[in-house]
Parts: sequence; C-alpha cells; structure tokens
Amino acid sequence: MADTRVTVHAEARIDEIEPALHGHFSEHLGRCIYDGMYHDETADGEGFREDVVSLLADIETPVLRWPGGCFADDYHWEDGVGDDRPRRRNLFWAQGRDEVPEEPNTFGTHEFLELCERIDADPYLAVNVGSGDPQEAADWAEYCTYGGDTELANRRRENGREEPFEVPYWGIGNENWGCGGQMSPEQYAREYRRFATYVGTMDNLMADQEFELIACGFENHEWNHRFMEEVGNLNWGIEFPLDHLTLHHYYGRTMSVVETDDEETFDRMLVEALEMDHHIERIAAAINAVATTRDIGVIIDEWGTWHTEAVSESGLEQPGTVVDALSAAAVLDIFNHHADVMTMSNIAQTVNVLQCLVETEGDDAWARPTYHVFDLYSPHQGNDAVRTSVDTPTREVDGADDDLPLVGASASVADGETYVTLTNLDIRGTQSVEIDLEGADPDAVDAQILFDGQDHDAVVDVDNAASFEPESFDLGVESDGTLTADLPASTVLGVSIE
Ligand code: AHR
Repeated sequence: MADTRVTVHAEARIDEIEPALHGHFSEHLGRCIYDGMYHDETADGEGFREDVVSLLADIETPVLRWPGGCFADDYHWEDGVGDDRPRRRNLFWAQGRDEVPEEPNTFGTHEFLELCERIDADPYLAVNVGSGDPQEAADWAEYCTYGGDTELANRRRENGREEPFEVPYWGIGNENWGCGGQMSPEQYAREYRRFATYVGTMDNLMADQEFELIACGFENHEWNHRFMEEVGNLNWGIEFPLDHLTLHHYYGRTMSVVETDDEETFDRMLVEALEMDHHIERIAAAINAVATTRDIGVIIDEWGTWHTEAVSESGLEQPGTVVDALSAAAVLDIFNHHADVMTMSNIAQTVNVLQCLVETEGDDAWARPTYHVFDLYSPHQGNDAVRTSVDTPTREVDGADDDLPLVGASASVADGETYVTLTNLDIRGTQSVEIDLEGADPDAVDAQILFDGQDHDAVVDVDNAASFEPESFDLGVESDGTLTADLPASTVLGVSIE
C-alpha cells in the first residue's frame, strides 16, 4: 500500500484550464524591466534582451501583466511613448538594485506590446486609478486599439505602429486598498464604475476587439464582499462591465530559504502557499453573493514567495530555490482544481524580481527552478481539468492553521490523453504514490521529474542552472492499470498517459 493514492476521475470534468492560468507579471521595479528584459549588453537593435525573450517564448507565456504593481498607479502612459520621454521620479521602487527611484521611460507602451507579440503573450495593462483619471485611461485604450482617424490613433502611427495593438485585458488599478490610493471598498467600487464606464465602453464603439475589465480585490475578504455589493448596487443590469476580480497572495515573508535550517519553517511556508485554495474559494463566494463566477472570473494577478532578502535595496531580488518552485507547482495544481472559476494568474515577477522565472547577470540569462515547473505544467494549458482525489498523509505544523498534505496533484484530459502533475511537498523523504486511473488501461506512459537529487534549499546560479532541468522517470504499471512511483523528497512529476 502506497503512502499516497491519487485517483483521477477522468469523467468528472471541472472546466477548461485557461492557458492564462500560467501567466506572468512584470513591473518597473528593480531589474525586472531594465537589465532584465530590456537594454543591457545583450540587447538587440531594438533594446530587447534576446536571451530573455527566447526563454520566455519557449515556455508558452500566455499573458503578461504590466506596468505594475504599485508602479501602475503612479504611471502616466504618455511619458512612455514618442521621442520625448521625460525622466520621472518613481514613488514606489528603485530601478536596479541600488539605483535611485527614477523612471527613464525608455520602456513604454510600444516596447511592452511589441515584447508581448514577440513572446506570443496577451497583454494585460493596468491603468492608473490612484493618481490618474478615467480620461487618461480611456485615452490609453484609444491610443493602443483604435484603427480610425483620431489624434491619438494617428499619434500611435507617427510613433511607428500603423495597425492597432491587440489588448484584451484592462486592469482598473492595482491594490487600490493600499498603494493604489488607500481606498475603502465602497470608494474603490465608485472609482471602478467611473473608470469602467469610459474604458469599457471603448470596445463596443471604437475598438475592433473585446476588452475584459479587471477589478482589484484583497486578501481581506470582507473588503471583497463590500466591493461587490457596492459595485453591483446600481441599475447596471446583468452585463455591468466587470469581467474578473483579482487578489494577490504572497507567502514565506518572514523567512530566508538559504538561512533557514529548521524543517518546520519550510513546512509552514508551504502551508501558507496552499492557503491559495481558501482565497480562491472566498473570493469566488464574494462574487457569487451578487453575481456569478460564470460572468466574473477569479484572477490571482500577483502571487508567489516573498522572502526576507527581497527588500527595496535589493530591488526585491531573492535566491531562486527548489522549495520555492515546489510551492509554485502545488499552487498550479490548486488553480487546476478551481478551473471552473479561475480565469488567469500572474506569478510575480517574470525576470530578476521576487519569484521570477528568469534571472540575469550581465550577459548571462538562465532559467530558475520555477521556470521548469511552468514548463512541466504547460501541457495542462487548454485541457479539461478533471476531479482528482488525493489521499495523502498530512503533517501538523506548529503555528499554522492547517496541516501540510505531503503530496499535491491535479489532472487534465484532452484527445484521449491524460496529464497528471504531482508534487512531493515532503522535504524530509520519499513518498510512494499510486495513481488510480479508475480501470483505464494505459497504452503509453511518459514521465518527467524535476529536482531529483537536489536539496530543497538548493539555489540556482548561472553555473549550475542546467542541473535543474527535467529528467525522464519510469513509473510502474500494475495489471489493473494503476501507476506507481516513489517520489523522492522535494520533487515534481509530470505524467502523460495515452
Ligand atoms: O510585486 C511587488 C509589489 O507587491 C507590487 O508592486 C504590489 O502590487 C504588491 O504589493
């Protein structure tokens, strides 16, 4: 009898896994944009770092959110288009590790939207609600997406772009309960309606494309209920312009992975990561109280580890580790379980900052362990998530409300193939696992494992980056079709079954 039994109920469809569940977030913060994606020794003629662009293009980046974060509510988009780009102070973040908090505006709207085209990602722009106004936001939408003969559309053409850009996602502010204006939920709901009226009307009348509007929520769920009540409390009818509600969930904030040596602190961080499950349920409940999650989807547009190394002076940089990558795998499994309500997620942040996927130093760029998790999970994109029961031992964790389940898993199906992902969250030892396919007889099983032989606190750098790449893995197949595996400590497995 194995420690853990995972049962894949292939007939119990949850919903399609939106590719956007594997999205990313990039902000003008530290070395995310400058040095990270743009302008350094490896830049091509147009300023993009080719090494980073090609790494991002290789993992199917479905959507990219920009320009913030807190930066978004202090950003005026017209500073970042055309030839005359003023240098501005940046209220929230320094650009670079020890640099002054000034924004050169060399990377602006055209650069971002062209980057999205290069890596084949849908752009998600966050408009300035905190210090901006609805006119500025509507002008940005017109500038980017209108094909007619207005001053703004013509200005875009003069700045080098004839055809409108495709911009499907428009975020109305960022953390408006905090750095985005310190608003009460009622105040933000009123601001939201004002902005949504002008940005959201644009797609009917002017843009030859549909916009999806995103409102900010909060980890404090009373805030979300009050916001939803207020925003829905007018005679908008059922079609009021709100397509998604989002919140942010960071974890591991009181610890450093490299300095921690007691195992319980790692367990606690993983329990905190798994709190994502409660947040999704609770924000969905806030939506369902006044509308339905069929009409308004749940987005988690900032998430991931935030450790003690990530402070303003370090440009929010922290080491890229195996345990952080494990937490990402477990969270991506949770997103699959909630495929019926979730429409997008954006891990923070793409390059160099927080739980980035890619790290750079001078001429070098390399993939972090979290990058490989996203790559391993990419076969789920566009599949149907199916109910997956995980009967696994749990560990009590001092100081945590919940116990830690030692194995996490999810499964999806498409065209007769099943894809199962499993994470051994036990940093102390191997977990034996059975995958019950409910009588299905697998013709071919192909599996890849991540981090076998690595310590949970292993840190990636330019010299050892290749050692975090996936390796093939053999599972046993029982006569009734059950698959068996011994999952080493702190590993992630992707199993494709035909
Ligand atoms: O990702 C870093 C910061 O975290 C973002 O600017 C803000 O939205 C959040 O608090």
